[in-house]
Amino acid sequence: MIGADEDSVKDHSGLLSRLMGSSTTCQAMEGVIKEGAKVMAADMSPEVMDAAIVAGSQKIEHLEIAGYGTARTYAENLGLTEAANLLQQTLDEEYQADQILTGLAVSVINERAEAGVSSNSY
Ligand SMILES: [Fe+2]
Repeated sequence: MIGADEDSVKDHSGLLSRLMGSSTTCQAMEGVIKEGAKVMAADMSPEVMDAAIVAGSQKIEHLEIAGYGTARTYAENLGLTEAANLLQQTLDEEYQADQILTGLAVSVINERAEAGVSSNSY
């Protein structure tokens, strides 16, 4: 859509990729995923685990929001309207996912986690 082929992508790999050691893997996302795996392997009540999984999932959503928001703005600045619109659509979905997770956390999951911690620690 933006006129890039495989060779041009290789020739003009992004500044961030070069700064991060020529990797296209997001090290921040890798870290959040590793953190999530560590949390899920920990010994805790199912209620606290649910709250921890929601919190970890929201970290992922926030990273995605940062990435898609930046990419959308770059696309806008470069006049890539169609790409910007698609990136905005994805950004909206990420915000929506974050809001759903917040709704779950504040409506029930955090209260259950608090109750779970109380019943297990006394
Ligand atoms: Fe997401």
